[in-house]
Amino acid sequence: MKNIVILISGRGSNMEAVVRAAQAEQWPARIAAVISNRADAKGLAFAADKGIATAVVANKDYASRAEFDAALRTAIDGFAPDLVVLAGFMRILTAPFVEHYAGRMLNIHPSLLPHFPGLATHEQALASGMREHGATVHFVTAELDHGPVVAQATVPVLPDDTADTLSARVLVQEHLLYPRAIRLFIDGKLSIEQGTVRVDTQ
Ligand code: GRF
Repeated sequence: MKNIVILISGRGSNMEAVVRAAQAEQWPARIAAVISNRADAKGLAFAADKGIATAVVANKDYASRAEFDAALRTAIDGFAPDLVVLAGFMRILTAPFVEHYAGRMLNIHPSLLPHFPGLATHEQALASGMREHGATVHFVTAELDHGPVVAQATVPVLPDDTADTLSARVLVQEHLLYPRAIRLFIDGKLSIEQGTVRVDTQ
């Protein structure tokens, strides 16, 4: 049984999609914990309801990024994770933290990377005039939103879209994409070769 630790900062709808898929598909993995950097993250209630251990490591309680990351790492490692899943975790992580979880930490980003790293991705997509937008699951590396890509989903950008309508369309795909990508990791089907992800399709 592999242990997955999920980090959230807010709503937690991607975390919820992962928890539901793990249950429905009876993954050979358990969601060992959901950890948030904010005590008011809505997703914590869903996790607790499902009987999943929850913890809060509040970044505002720490004087520096390094101290926060050290405390977060201690909390995560208490659950012996095989995989750490960032699901709307809104903190920039230090290089030593990222290095500690190299090859075993995934993130979902609401754009077709390498387009639009950072924030306000839907606004950026609309402003760019791109006809397609989407979401990316990638391994986390020290450079924000730049790690090796595991999987992507695309959606059309429609003429009357606002950031809200576009983000809702992307979110539907995120909820399908992230569980699928995590399942590949759990099943041992992902490897990183020369900075790109190889998916074993056998
Ligand atoms: C998602 O759009 C995710 O791609 C991004 O932050 C948002 C989090 O939403 N990283 P939720 O908390 O999973 O509902």
